Amino acid sequence: MHIAPLAVEHKKTFIDLITAIESDAFFIYTSPPIKPGAFEAIFQNNNIDIFIGLNDKNVGIGYAMVVKNLQKESAHLLKIQSIGITPSHRAQGCASQLLAFIIESYKNTHKIITLEVISGNTHAINLYKKFGFTECGKIKDAFKKDGGSHDLLTFCKTL
Ligand SMILES: CC(C)(COP(=O)(O)OP(=O)(O)OC[C@H]1O[C@@H](n2cnc3c(N)ncnc32)[C@H](O)[C@@H]1OP(=O)(O)O)[C@@H](O)C(=O)NCCC(=O)NCCS
Repeated sequence: MHIAPLAVEHKKTFIDLITAIESDAFFIYTSPPIKPGAFEAIFQNNNIDIFIGLNDKNVGIGYAMVVKNLQKESAHLLKIQSIGITPSHRAQGCASQLLAFIIESYKNTHKIITLEVISGNTHAINLYKKFGFTECGKIKDAFKKDGGSHDLLTFCKTL
């Protein structure tokens, strides 16, 4: 897998990728921009960086969306808004590759990375812990699923 900043020519593969990931994600908390016109709009949004993981035929395997704080007071904070790998490529190190890429890319410009994850999403939580993220916040019973409730956890990592 090679990683590239999302570009206009990735539109179809990116939308296919998001659709595949959302079809079986543990919980859809923040949908990436797949409504008509929204894909183009992200290129005008200076707050958002999206990285796409592609195979050697330039088909999307995974992506990560990063939100930057542009105000001076909070410019050291970075949020990983979402990260996802297409089901057929999971457990092969792709998310690890994306996360390592993000950490390396922002380590000299940012000080803290945060993200949110639903408490039952153990694969994602294991991934974040592997990279040294620690739980730093919790909203109890934030989400309901299958008759049960789940906490919304915040994880943080100092760069
Ligand atoms: C969570 C997700 C991004 C992991 O992607 P991935 O490419 O399979 O992850 P990796 O192969 O890089 O694995 C990294 C770590 O994640 C954890 N992990 C991944 N798959 C796992 C599984 N099936 N069981 C347990 N832990 C798992 C492990 O800690 C693993 O490290 P290890 O291989 O050293 O044991 C992927 O399952 C996904 O896209 N899920 C749907 C979207 C989602 O939930 N995103 C997170 C929202 S907060």
